Amino acid sequence: MHRPPVLHVAALLLFTGFSLTEAVEIKVHDNNNKTCIYAILSVNFTVVYEGNGTMENTTFTLPNSLSSNGSVCGDNKSAPLLKMNFGPGHSLSLNFSHSAGIFRGDVLTFTYNTSDTNLFPGAKNTSVKQVAVDSLMEAAPLNTVYTCRSAKAIASKEVIMVFYDVGLQALVENGTISKNESICKADMSTTMSPLTTWTASTMTPTKPPPPPIPSVGNYTLKNGSETCLLANMGLQLNLTYVEDNQTRLINIDSNSTASGYCGDQDATLVLEDMKTTIIFHFIVEQSKFFLKEVKANISLVVNGSTIPLQFNNSSLKYWQTSIGSSYMCHKEQRLRVTDQMVINTFNVWIQPFELKSGTFSRAEECSLDDDSILIPIIVGAALAVLIVIVVIAYVIGRRKSYAGYQTL
Ligand SMILES: *[C@@H]1O[C@H](CO)[C@@H](O)[C@H](O)[C@H]1NC(C)=O
Ligand SMILES: *[C@@H]1O[C@H](CO)[C@@H](O)[C@H](O)[C@H]1NC(C)=O
Ligand SMILES: *[C@@H]1O[C@H](CO)[C@@H](O)[C@H](O)[C@H]1NC(C)=O
Ligand SMILES: *[C@@H]1O[C@H](CO)[C@@H](O)[C@H](O)[C@H]1NC(C)=O
Ligand SMILES: *[C@@H]1O[C@H](CO)[C@@H](O)[C@H](O)[C@H]1NC(C)=O
Ligand SMILES: *[C@@H]1O[C@H](CO)[C@@H](O)[C@H](O)[C@H]1NC(C)=O
Ligand SMILES: *[C@@H]1O[C@H](CO)[C@@H](O)[C@H](O)[C@H]1NC(C)=O
Ligand SMILES: *[C@@H]1O[C@H](CO)[C@@H](O)[C@H](O)[C@H]1NC(C)=O
Ligand SMILES: *[C@@H]1O[C@H](CO)[C@@H](O)[C@H](O)[C@H]1NC(C)=O
Ligand SMILES: *[C@@H]1O[C@H](CO)[C@@H](O)[C@H](O)[C@H]1NC(C)=O
Ligand SMILES: *[C@@H]1O[C@H](CO)[C@@H](O)[C@H](O)[C@H]1NC(C)=O
Ligand SMILES: *[C@@H]1O[C@H](CO)[C@@H](O)[C@H](O)[C@H]1NC(C)=O
Repeated sequence: MHRPPVLHVAALLLFTGFSLTEAVEIKVHDNNNKTCIYAILSVNFTVVYEGNGTMENTTFTLPNSLSSNGSVCGDNKSAPLLKMNFGPGHSLSLNFSHSAGIFRGDVLTFTYNTSDTNLFPGAKNTSVKQVAVDSLMEAAPLNTVYTCRSAKAIASKEVIMVFYDVGLQALVENGTISKNESICKADMSTTMSPLTTWTASTMTPTKPPPPPIPSVGNYTLKNGSETCLLANMGLQLNLTYVEDNQTRLINIDSNSTASGYCGDQDATLVLEDMKTTIIFHFIVEQSKFFLKEVKANISLVVNGSTIPLQFNNSSLKYWQTSIGSSYMCHKEQRLRVTDQMVINTFNVWIQPFELKSGTFSRAEECSLDDDSILIPIIVGAALAVLIVIVVIAYVIGRRKSYAGYQTL
C-alpha cells in the first residue's frame, strides 16, 4: 500500500530572517519516511466574493494547521506536487517541473470553499472555486533550497496572494534538506544595495541627487494569445519614511515584469522589479474606467537595513476615461496613494479594457495635456478677435476720413 505523505509543521526554522510567527513550515515524506519536499512560506490572501447584494472582501493568512494529503514526492516519471490543505476544503498547491539539474515551480493552484463562514461570512452562491497561476518560483539548482524573503504578489480576478519568507526544495535527496540557498532575484538586490549606496553618502550629509525622470516601460497583459491590457508609463515613487521623516524618490525599473488579470468589469496589473511590487486595479463604472486601487510592497533600504513597507488605497479615482478609449497624459502627474506614498507618473498611455486587435484605441488626454493645447487655442482665438477688431477699426477709420475728405 502507498502510504500518504506525512506532514510536519515544525517549530524549528532552518533559515534565518524568516518571521517566526507567520511562516508555515512543511515537510512531505516519502514511503521510507524521508523528507522529499520541503517548504516554508507565509501567504497573505485577499479574496473578493459575492455577499448579500454587495461584493465583500476577506483577508487571511495561510494557517499553521495544514495537511499535505495529496502531495506527491515525484520521480523521473511524475512531477513533484506540494499540496497544503486547510480548513473545510481550502488548499494551495504547487507542482514542480525538473530537468537538467534544476527544478522550478510550475502551476500554483489556490482552491477555496466559500461555504466556509469563518473566512467568507455572508457569502452568496457558495461553491468551491479555483485560481491557477504560473511560476511562483524561479528556477533553482537541484539540492538547493530556493529562498525568497521579499514579498511577491500574484493577482487574479478575485484573489491576491502575497508570498513572503518563502523557502522551497523539491526532490530532496536522501531526506536531507540542503543547506545551500538559491536566493531569488528580488532578495539579491536588497542585500547588495547597502554596500553600493551607503558607503559613499555616509560621509557627506548632503542629500543624494534626485533620480532622473524614469524611463517609460511598455507593459502588456494577454488573455490567451490576445493582448488585453496595454500600459506605457514611467513611474516614480515618492515615499516618506515616517521613522526619519525623509522623502525618497524611487524609479520603477522599466523592465519590471507585468502580470495580472483582464476582465470585463475589472482588471489588475501587477508590476514587479527587484525591490517593488505595485498592483494597479482598474474598474468599470457607468461606461467609464478608472484606477480604483493601488497596493504596493516596497523593500526600502535605510542605513543598510531593508525595511518592508506596504501601502494601499482602494478608494481612488484616477485616470477616468470612457470605456473603449485609452487614457493618455504626457505631463507628470502626482497620484497620492497615502500620505506617505505618492506615485509620480510620466508619459502615461494606458488601456485596460476593450482593446481592438491588441492596440490602443482613440486616446482621451488628461486635463493637464488639454490645458497645454487649450492655451494656444485661447491665445490664438484672442489674437484672431484682436485682428478682426483692428481691421474693423481701420475700415471705419478710413470711411470716416474718406467721408471727411469728400466734404472738403
Ligand atoms: C517518521 O520520521 C519522524 C522523524 O523524522 C518520526 O518522528 C516518525 O515517527 C516517523 N514515522 C514513521 C511512521 O516512521
Ligand atoms: C501579511 O499580513 C499580516 C497580518 O495580517 C501583516 O502583519 C503583514 O505585514 C502582511 N505582510 C505582507 C507582505 O503583506
Ligand atoms: C440581505 O440584505 C437585505 C437588504 O439589504 C436584507 O433584507 C436581508 O435580510 C439580507 N439577507 C441576509 C441573509 O442577510
Ligand atoms: C475591502 O474591505 C475593506 C473593509 O471592509 C474596504 O475598506 C475596502 O474598500 C474593500 N476593498 C475592495 C477592493 O473591495
Ligand atoms: C488526510 O490524511 C489523514 C491521515 O494521513 C487522514 O486521517 C485524513 O482523513 C486525510 N484527509 C483527507 C481530506 O483526505
Ligand atoms: C528513473 O528512476 C529510477 C530509480 O528511481 C531509475 O532506476 C531509472 O533509471 C530512472 N530512469 C531514467 C530515464 O532516468
Ligand atoms: C465546504 O465548506 C462546507 C462548510 O464548512 C463543508 O460542509 C463542505 O464539505 C466543504 N466542501 C468541500 C469540498 O470540502
Ligand atoms: C502542473 O499542473 C498543471 C495543471 O494543474 C499541469 O497542466 C502541468 O502540466 C503540471 N506540471 C507538471 C510539470 O506536471
Ligand atoms: C545521497 O546519498 C548518496 C549515497 O549515500 C551520496 O552519494 C549523495 O552525495 C547524497 N546526496 C546528498 C545531497 O547528500
Ligand atoms: C513603447 O511604446 C512607445 C509607443 O507607445 C514606443 O514609442 C516606444 O519605442 C516603446 N518602447 C519600447 C522600449 O518598446
Ligand atoms: C515628494 O514628496 C514631498 C512631501 O510630500 C514633497 O515635498 C516633494 O515635492 C515631492 N517630490 C517629488 C519630486 O515629487
Ligand atoms: C532592460 O533590459 C534590457 C535587455 O535585457 C537591457 O538592455 C536594458 O538595459 C534594461 N533596462 C534597464 C533600465 O534595466
